[in-house]
Amino acid sequence: MNESNGTYHHEVNSGSNGHGANGSVNGIPAPAIGDVPAPESSRRYAQIIGWGYHVPEKVITNHDLEQIVDTNDEWIRSRTGIEERHVAADPKETSASLGVMAARKALELADVPPNKVDLIICATSSPEYIFPATACIIQDALGAVNAGAFDLSAACSGFVYALSMARGHILAGDAEYVLVIGAETLSRFVDWTDRNTCILFGDGAGAVLVAASDVPGGIMSIELGSDGSGANALSIPAGGSAMPASLETVGNGGHYMQMDGKAVFRFATRVMAEATQRVLARAGLTTDDVDLIIPHQANVRIIQNSVLKQLKIPEEKVMINLQKYGNTSTASIPIALCEAIDAGRVKPGDNLVFVGFGGGLTWGACAIKWSVPVEKQAAGWWKNYRRQATYQAAAARSMWKKAVRWVYDVWPTDPEGRPLKGPDPQRETQYLPPQK
Ligand code: ACO
Repeated sequence: MNESNGTYHHEVNSGSNGHGANGSVNGIPAPAIGDVPAPESSRRYAQIIGWGYHVPEKVITNHDLEQIVDTNDEWIRSRTGIEERHVAADPKETSASLGVMAARKALELADVPPNKVDLIICATSSPEYIFPATACIIQDALGAVNAGAFDLSAACSGFVYALSMARGHILAGDAEYVLVIGAETLSRFVDWTDRNTCILFGDGAGAVLVAASDVPGGIMSIELGSDGSGANALSIPAGGSAMPASLETVGNGGHYMQMDGKAVFRFATRVMAEATQRVLARAGLTTDDVDLIIPHQANVRIIQNSVLKQLKIPEEKVMINLQKYGNTSTASIPIALCEAIDAGRVKPGDNLVFVGFGGGLTWGACAIKWSVPVEKQAAGWWKNYRRQATYQAAAARSMWKKAVRWVYDVWPTDPEGRPLKGPDPQRETQYLPPQK
């Protein structure tokens, strides 16, 4: 198991909805946090104040794949840059469970309890179900009892799209804390006999906590785009309303990911460069101002062709970790962000760019002025103990609510004493044919 963990001191606005930051971080009263509402004129910023990732333990190397399909390590390395990927081998490992682990780390690092979160956005291409949203399952497991929750579908661009939504809610004053998660178990949607796709993808989740802040910086500009004419280039054709699940769709592999790799490659190299230039221009920056670019980790050749060659951004300013994880879709940018921070490649004052592309076709970029400290502080035993208690309380609350629903279902009367089963007298008079 890999992880990114610790705690981080931060300052955020008090919330107009009462969910503002508490006054103490690690027992130290934090300045500029409290019950004094921000003046109407003060600007709000959307800052990433917590981050974390989680990947399954099971690793599948290129050599392992040689045993499964007609491929070889040399081909995969030279055509994609990928060396290994993490895969959810345990059926209990799902997009939601990976997302919960990543989200907990982000909250712990920011030292924000789950009940302060206003909104959870889970970007995913491999949700638990068509509905309910994976974000709701994560909300329940976290005990984020005051949060709205929804999934966002924009394939691998989903994390940038979700950051855009988080920023919008924060700048509009609708939310103080938004949890943005990219969570994937694409290994369950990949045909493990198709060498064109199964070598590319990996499982994992990354999360960031975005908070309202009066500190200038944070998510400065966003560029989103789409081209539905390319929808067929990357899709899971069956299982939706266009092609509902049937014996035939299952039999012909319609529930697996299908991809026109060359078309996606051409599209990706073009939009990554264009989106980066547009988002920088919107933030009043140029490529020379970029300290670190974190591109979607799909194929090292796409990154080389777009970021290095077209944009001429030097290699040392580009975060690449796809050799270890493959393409984790919506999780790839937040996982790479966490690793960049762990490696000391992000510091306050840096200009970052996240840029992604994916099925849809979609693309998205965001420019960030990193404005928060990145040092981790070990949480004391008491804090760890309290967190564990919070997680157990969330599990107990969830079980209790399920039990109450079950009781209502089987109990003959509701709490107000009216019969729950049997005809409603009002409806009888309204709909029954007149008595003869
Ligand atoms: N092992 C060995 N040989 C292979 C493999 C493999 N795994 N896959 C394909 N080949 C063969 C092909 O059959 C072909 O053989 P041929 O010349 O005899 O016909 C040859 O290798 C070249 O195949 P190409 O498809 O031309 O290989 P290419 O260089 O285009 O690389 C790849 C393929 C890696 C898929 C590339 O096109 C790519 O990365 N595309 C982008 C894919 C992507 O990023 N998708 C994710 C989008 S994000 C999201 O929304 C989920």
